[in-house]
Formats: sequence, C-alpha cells, structure tokens
Amino acid sequence: MRTAPIVAIDGPVGAGKSTVAMGVARVLGFRYIDTGAMYRSVAWLALRQGVNLPDERTVASVAASASIEFKPANGRPRVLVNGTDVTEAIRTPEVSAAASVVSAHPAVRQALVALQRTMGADGGVVMEGRDISTVVFPDAEVKVYLDASPEERARRRFQELVSKGVAVDYESLKRAEEERDRRDSTRAHSPLRRAPDAVVIDTTGLTVEQIVDRIVKLVEKRK
Ligand code: DC
Repeated sequence: MRTAPIVAIDGPVGAGKSTVAMGVARVLGFRYIDTGAMYRSVAWLALRQGVNLPDERTVASVAASASIEFKPANGRPRVLVNGTDVTEAIRTPEVSAAASVVSAHPAVRQALVALQRTMGADGGVVMEGRDISTVVFPDAEVKVYLDASPEERARRRFQELVSKGVAVDYESLKRAEEERDRRDSTRAHSPLRRAPDAVVIDTTGLTVEQIVDRIVKLVEKRK
C-alpha cells in the first residue's frame, strides 16, 4: 500500500527536470529519484568494463548485477555504483552519449524499471525521467511533462556544464543534445512521450520557483 503520492516528472534534455524535481521533493519532504542517473551509472560501468555498448545482453547483465544507490546530500543526492561515488563522473559528454545508447536496450530498461518500482513503491517520491508516467508508474498520483524550446534547453545544458568547468562548444553541444533527443523519442522501447493524462508545463521563461510551486499545488490538490 502506498502511503504517500508518487510525483512522476518526464521530459526531454534540458527542460529543467532535475532542478524542478529536487525543488518539489524538498518542499514536500519527499525522496528524489533521478532515473537518468541510473542509466548513466550503467553506461559508466559498461564503459569502465570495456563492454561493447550495442551488445544488449552483456550491458543488461552489467545493469542486473550493479548496485545503484542514492545517498541523501545537501542538494543533489550522491550516486553510488557498487560503492563508488560516481556523482560527477556520470555527467561527462562521453557518459551522456553512452547512456543514450544503453537506455535503448529493452533488457537494460527491464532491470532498471524493476529497481525504480521498488524504490518508489511506498510513495513519497518525486521520480524524474523519460518514461515514469507512461511505464514505471502509470498510476502515479501526479504526472507532469516538462518541456522548453530547443534553444532554451541547449542554453541551460551549456550553462550547467560550463558552471561545472566542463569545456564545451555550444553548437556541438546543441547538435549532440538534438541527437540524444531524437534517439530518446524514436527508440522502439519506451520512447519519450507524454502520458495522455500528464500536465504539460512549458518552462521557457518561467523561474524554477514558479514551476515548483505549480507542481506542489497539483500534489496538494490530490490530498
Ligand atoms: O536525464 P538524463 O540526461 O540524465 O538521462 C540519461 C539518458 O538516459 C538519456 O539518454 C535518456 C535516458 N533515460 C531513459 O531512457 N529513461 C529514463 N527514465 C531516464 C533517462
């Protein structure tokens, strides 16, 4: 039995999902689960083990045997893979590209979706990703689809990386993000799409506080 609601937040790269989801979790006192970090963790492990990324079976066995944990911290939770803190290591452009490839494998998704369902089973979570309201928790109490214009999304991602000291060229970043979006939305298994009953919020021109406030109100209305 779920004792508190599940807030599912989906959307493309750079729509502001992480910042918003963390903000909603903080206001409501819910746990924040970043499912993108889980696909990134599998990609990081696969790269480290020298696994051929298109090899679905081998990548899926990496996913099935990996221990992926979130450790609460001030701000973004730390991500531990088999006990190693990979919070920063999973944010490089190399891991981003690899995560997009491994997340297209149905067997990898199956392993991670099962883990996500266990993590969210009791409710009281804000879970962020691409397929949370369509596949992982289609019965989530609150479903939100965050979007923003492609320019705004590339600009945000650029600033995020620059602020972390990662050297990037804006135009190539925009192209890489467009390619990742295309792959995420056109893959055969669980592509990024809006759940028919999701509330769509276009975040272009809105502040984080405004978006968090809207979502918190949606949750309060459900109580
Ligand atoms: O949100 P992100 O950029 O950290 O996600 C990393 C990759 O994982 C991205 O290519 C999309 C994919 N992903 C997914 O397929 N399903 C999810 N629920 C979350 C992320």
